[in-house]
Amino acid sequence: MHFKRNFVKKIWDLPDHKATSEDVFLNRRQIVKGLGMGGLAISAAKLGLPTEAHASEGDPSASLYPVTRNEKYTLGEGRTLTPERINTTYNNFYEFGSHKQIHAAAQALKIRPWEIAIDGEVEKPMTIGIDDLLNKMPLEERLYRFRCVEAWSMTVPWSGFEMSELIKLAQPNANAKYVRFETFQDESIAPGQKQFWYPWPYVEAITIEEAMNEMTFMVTGAYGKPVPKQMGAPLRLALPWKYGFKSIKSIKKITFTNERPVSFWEELAAKEYGFWANVNPEVAHPRWSQATERDLETGERIPSVIYNGYGEQVADLYKDLQDQPLFM
Ligand code: MTE
Repeated sequence: MHFKRNFVKKIWDLPDHKATSEDVFLNRRQIVKGLGMGGLAISAAKLGLPTEAHASEGDPSASLYPVTRNEKYTLGEGRTLTPERINTTYNNFYEFGSHKQIHAAAQALKIRPWEIAIDGEVEKPMTIGIDDLLNKMPLEERLYRFRCVEAWSMTVPWSGFEMSELIKLAQPNANAKYVRFETFQDESIAPGQKQFWYPWPYVEAITIEEAMNEMTFMVTGAYGKPVPKQMGAPLRLALPWKYGFKSIKSIKKITFTNERPVSFWEELAAKEYGFWANVNPEVAHPRWSQATERDLETGERIPSVIYNGYGEQVADLYKDLQDQPLFM
């Protein structure tokens, strides 16, 4: 719809320094610079930031972490782990505001009790509490790269379990061609959801083959602790070969279906944020290049890589789908 498209252009699609108010941007630059200066780092407290942006105290799953790292997944040459403070204070979570500084507002999200409905084309439909799910799943840590469609990137030590484990639990039937994920909806705590021009709740979807791929990771923790609210507690997706908007946060419902679902951003601007959204430096976004990305820690621009460097694991998924707009 016309007004929706214009609206999206005004906010999310601008280079992020334009999409964020200037003082917030300057502050962020100072933080990034400060952290990069090692011994001379400016303390978060001096910048007026919360000194602990990771509110995992009191989380009943805290004792499960840290979990054992799966050494198979490495960041690759020249990439280092993005500091926790950057990852926990620079977020996209439109339910809490259409800018990056939502970490304080996101603390209003109540993450217990938290039930997840698993339904649709499955043998074992269920509603399961997050702590029961955590008990059933083999948790591990993986270091993943993360590339946002806005052309910034970071790396994250996620904890969680492979989506294929959840598929074993749900037992999809032969009609299950897609998996649809839906976030919570509660405008009493999420002011962004009062903005009626967005198609709430946030929805994302992948194919069943993508869901079965070894890279598809259900996140329950980060940095050796339960995942903080601003990063999508208590359950989010990590699809490191796709643009970041596919990695839906705070999941409440997982539906197996034979029809391709329409996702949140696809409904707003399908030509810009399509269903597939695989990273490709050679396919520009209609309004900017995807050739390089800005490392959130160093501020440096680095070359982007097809499938964000995970081609070995995922390229086969797409060999018979070359007629699809795989990179939009
Ligand atoms: N999930 C929900 N529910 N709401 C959102 O606004 N933003 C997406 C994705 N998942 C979003 C979401 C976008 S655009 C990005 S880039 C990543 O979350 C950001 O994840 P991060 O804040 O942990 O870096």
